[in-house]
Amino acid sequence: MNIRQLLDDRITAALHALGAPANVTAIVKPSARPEFGDYQANGVMAAAKQLKLNPRELATRLLETLDLSDLAEKLEVAGPGFINIHLKNVWLAEMLVPFGSAQGSVARRLSEVEAQTIVIDYSGPNLAKEMHVGHLRSTIIGDAVARVLEFQGHKVIRQNHVGDWGTQFGMLIAHMVSMAEQHGGVSGVAPQLADLETFYREAKKRFDDEPQFADTARDYVVKLQSGDAECLAWWQQFIDISLHHCEAVYERLGVSLTRADVKPESAYNADLAQVVSDLQASGLLVEDQGAQCVFLEEFKNKDGSITPIIVQKTGGGYLYATTDLAALRYRSSVLNIDRALYFTDARQSLHFQQVFTLARKAGFVRTDISLEHMPFGNMLGEDGKPFKTRTGGTVKLVELLTEAEERAFALVTEKNPTLDETERRAIAHTVGIGAVKYADLSKNRNSDYIFNWETMLSFEGNTAPYLQYAYARIKSIFRRAQLETGNASIVLQASAERVLAVKLLQFTEVTDSVAKEGLPNHLCTYLYELAGNFMSFYEACPILKEGVDAEVRDSRLHLAQVTAQTLQTGLALLGIEVMERM
Ligand code: ARG
Repeated sequence: MNIRQLLDDRITAALHALGAPANVTAIVKPSARPEFGDYQANGVMAAAKQLKLNPRELATRLLETLDLSDLAEKLEVAGPGFINIHLKNVWLAEMLVPFGSAQGSVARRLSEVEAQTIVIDYSGPNLAKEMHVGHLRSTIIGDAVARVLEFQGHKVIRQNHVGDWGTQFGMLIAHMVSMAEQHGGVSGVAPQLADLETFYREAKKRFDDEPQFADTARDYVVKLQSGDAECLAWWQQFIDISLHHCEAVYERLGVSLTRADVKPESAYNADLAQVVSDLQASGLLVEDQGAQCVFLEEFKNKDGSITPIIVQKTGGGYLYATTDLAALRYRSSVLNIDRALYFTDARQSLHFQQVFTLARKAGFVRTDISLEHMPFGNMLGEDGKPFKTRTGGTVKLVELLTEAEERAFALVTEKNPTLDETERRAIAHTVGIGAVKYADLSKNRNSDYIFNWETMLSFEGNTAPYLQYAYARIKSIFRRAQLETGNASIVLQASAERVLAVKLLQFTEVTDSVAKEGLPNHLCTYLYELAGNFMSFYEACPILKEGVDAEVRDSRLHLAQVTAQTLQTGLALLGIEVMERM
């Protein structure tokens, strides 16, 4: 249930009944201050303008006809024609009841939204190398959005568009073959591939330094692309090992991608010639210096030139864009999607705008499909420059995660020296990984962000440890009360109780917006504010203190229960776990 939407629908209908034109809506928002009520409708002014009426007069007339008595205590006209809505305590309390249990998180789902089939294209590492920090944002943000959409009842199809094709693989195969010769056959190559980064670097060095090696590498590319069985077998072996590396990272990160979600670039290989000939047939293709290109007016630069979309190189090779066009066609016609979201860094924005526009022009996708690039900025070091190792190299993801766990372990040990080591390790894993993910998710993805260990691992502020701790703290209240859950009836009296209740009911408004805009930071801000509201409530409204009336205590326990459940559900949607104690 989305209160904002509910109010918006009902007030909009009342405005229309008073003759407001169809394009006018109630524009309901949560109020900025408690004295303005819980929500405010700001649409009257625009309606009055169109109807040529005095806005305060229209607002007053609206209140005469609008019946919100089932949920609102009081409606009042404020300022030039705002409507302040004060919700009923009894109604708020009643609405909260379904959300206190694990099933309660299911009750959060929206039945009002029509289920769509949605592709989330995320992670997509290049398999020639090991995953590095550059893949972190796509992997984490894409995964959170996938979880939110699934939670809302949509059919989500995860697509891990890994880079497993292209000229680099010729060089890697050449290096594999020579390693096999040196290390006693095919089985001798596997240990060399345990460290893909080094393997890649060695291959690249030989490619640059040894002309003969480079020639062999180029031969392998041609052979690979013409389907040579031996070459394909080497390639397959490499891809397999590289995917294992990725899976180890996903598992450690608690990312929901599996082998079944991998739809690699190579999967579209057979379709690329068709893509080009279809573009040719539709008259969109132009040959430019031997390359097959499409020039779209939409991408005209300031100087009048057009940045072309190159779909085939001189010499016949296909490009990144060609594969994405084939992928779009597949997603539209085979997967039959309603929407596709692509999570890559902002540098690929032009690529996606071009590919989306061209796919529509060429009729590769159904016209009603929504195609959305969800760009993100860079992860920066303390110095504001791209995040690197101390010696200036790329930071491997595995190493970053190990450091997160080590740092969290030191913190947990400091806080809780008596806990046995296994438990401290488990907590450190949950806190460390949670901290890294949350630090990323809590920033608006459109901007760059500075990676800072101290802030992300702090138990204060908008961090994972703070929220995990808030959850554990509520759980400890239940342990002390020797209760599993609270489910007594809720009575809202103190203002802190009310504030908490309204916040808890706004969960759906937030997940709706994350689903629409692909901005998980909205959910983070919400959870942070919720935890803050809980802390204020807990200070103002004692629960287990002596002298607290049993009914009041049980009502407060129930509020605490809904808060714990909401924190857990919200963090789970971000791919972050909670602990009963920490
Ligand atoms: N492999 C690409 C990269 O590393 C990301 C793939 C994104 N997805 C896509 N359909 N192009 O930048």
